[in-house]
Amino acid sequence: MDPNVRPETMERITSPELAQEFINEQIAAVRQQVGDNKVLLALSGGVDSSVVAALLIKAIGDRLVCVHVNHGLLRKGEPEQVVRVFKEELGANLIYVDAVDRFLDKLAGVDDPETKRKIIGKEFIDVFAEEASKLEGIKFLGQGTIYPDILESKDGIKAHHNVGGLPEGLDFELVEPIKLLYKDEVRVVGKALGLPDNMVYRQPFPGPGLGVRCTGAITRDRLEAVREADAIFREEIEKMDTTPWQYFVAIPDVKSTGIKDGKRYMGWAAVIRAVQTKDAVTAKSVEIPWATLCTIRDRIIAEVPGINRVLWDFSDKPVATIEWE
Ligand code: XMP
Repeated sequence: MDPNVRPETMERITSPELAQEFINEQIAAVRQQVGDNKVLLALSGGVDSSVVAALLIKAIGDRLVCVHVNHGLLRKGEPEQVVRVFKEELGANLIYVDAVDRFLDKLAGVDDPETKRKIIGKEFIDVFAEEASKLEGIKFLGQGTIYPDILESKDGIKAHHNVGGLPEGLDFELVEPIKLLYKDEVRVVGKALGLPDNMVYRQPFPGPGLGVRCTGAITRDRLEAVREADAIFREEIEKMDTTPWQYFVAIPDVKSTGIKDGKRYMGWAAVIRAVQTKDAVTAKSVEIPWATLCTIRDRIIAEVPGINRVLWDFSDKPVATIEWE
């Protein structure tokens, strides 16, 4: 049986009872796989790695070592929040690594999306290998891989960092307890593990982070514009009655003519996108009220240096994917 294929007999996890059954199975499986060893976990702060962290803490307690890598592609305020929630509130054994320059230097001038993903994935593994060697004797690497990552990598749609970016000769054995789950199931499991709602229902965020939203070759100034515009957009969208499944800003590597203070002002266009979906395999664009759109437009243009236009991407998936790269 291929361990990367979801058995047809596997029931969709839709209830606390089914989630508990899954958790019990995975605790036993992780204990068997890991024995008395330690596991190093890539804790991004997203739903997937947070659920894996909670599951592994239940399975192996303080033999889980969480590492949070700030690769410079995180959303505004995110690294600070991860440290606060996991280290201070949940008491996890957490190591914070500031790798911003290291990642951005490697990515400079690289415009091919798949190459960007592979660089980010490889750099991640290298950082973990370094942390592991400092800690000595860690053979296992926990990962928040989920089923759509595996399916889309198989279909050749894109290489997810959790799957396609792994270099040959990887000397960690992977621990991927949620790799056969769809996103909606991950949330049910997270609830059953007792994680707070704001973590379980947090919108998904791709492993390569803002890197796939700063399309083409990443520059620090455009990346900063993506981060600032995204924070404004999220703030305004979260005032809506129901929060969409995923909502973000992308800034393509294109400048257009504008006018500011009576002079020509070449600027980027911030692309806003909000979608609703069950499992990210298909997605529908979400209606945003005109007044909200105007507030978002005015704030982004006024508050984010380098932006002179705001565009609304209301394309559905398929044919468009959710992310721009
Ligand atoms: P797409 O763009 O394929 O995205 O419609 C589907 C969902 O997956 C997320 N996504 C990623 N997550 N690594 C990840 O961990 C990736 O490389 C990646 N690419 C896309 C995306 O944000 C959406 O929720």
